[in-house]
Amino acid sequence: MLLKDKICVITGAASSHSIGRATAILLAENGAKIAVLDVHGGVVDAAAALAEQYPASGCMALQCDITSQEECEAARDAVIARFGRVDALIHSAGIMKPAKYNEISPAEYELVMGVNLRGTFNIVTAFATTMAAQKSGSIVNVASVAAQRGGGLFGGAHYAASKGGVLSLTRTLARELGSANVRVNAICPSLIATDFVSEAMSADRLDELSTAIPLGRPGRPEEVAGACMFLASDLSTYMTGATLDVNGGIHIH
Ligand SMILES: NC(=O)c1ccc[n+]([C@@H]2O[C@H](COP(=O)([O-])OP(=O)(O)OC[C@H]3O[C@@H](n4cnc5c(N)ncnc54)[C@H](O)[C@@H]3O)[C@@H](O)[C@H]2O)c1
Repeated sequence: MLLKDKICVITGAASSHSIGRATAILLAENGAKIAVLDVHGGVVDAAAALAEQYPASGCMALQCDITSQEECEAARDAVIARFGRVDALIHSAGIMKPAKYNEISPAEYELVMGVNLRGTFNIVTAFATTMAAQKSGSIVNVASVAAQRGGGLFGGAHYAASKGGVLSLTRTLARELGSANVRVNAICPSLIATDFVSEAMSADRLDELSTAIPLGRPGRPEEVAGACMFLASDLSTYMTGATLDVNGGIHIH
């Protein structure tokens, strides 16, 4: 088992169709002890279901709003109190708002930046501090193809900019944390069939977009989870500051 007894925290796992949930399942199947984190109260039921299905995972729930640095640090402390250490953070929580540049209100801009960029900084630095002290750890940030190609699929300029910030943050932290043996990498998914996408576009629009994807279909959450597991695991011990595309070929560069 690739992650036997590794302590892994997965954010954004409340919804049963999310990338976070698919990752939590895959990691639990591969022997990890897991904690699932989300602002949504449904994370408690999600953790209970995972703990029941995968008793060895000891799955714990962390209800946490990542826009709060205090809540992120409290979540980290709860993980350490329960498991004693942390080996991987897969950070998938995020929000997406479609809007043209001239329709984005200041409040909406702050909201998207607050969750996607400030929130990433808060949760990653909370766990990075502990990993640096341990002299080991792997952090995986789920960014977006929007960061690479300048939006254009869904999500407005604020969304694309926030995810561009996540890529820059990932690379900077990879540089700063390398000497502490903490790896920081990013994943850029494209169209993945989750609630995130079904709430943002019609099935017809999804079909239309699929014709532009070389693999001819949207991705599945499990297909992003596989990349997350690879970067969390010892299969990728010489990778840091990297960006993995999980996009069906829609952006090849
Ligand atoms: N689905 C896609 O097509 C796609 C494409 C590119 C990138 N992404 C990225 O993948 C990640 C996961 O997307 P998904 O499709 O699984 O979405 P999702 O909406 O199913 O899951 C996101 C989760 O983040 C949680 N969340 C939102 N704000 C939070 C906060 N302040 N604190 C803690 N948790 C919070 C939500 O409650 C939700 O459970 C996101 O970061 C998204 O930007 C998704």
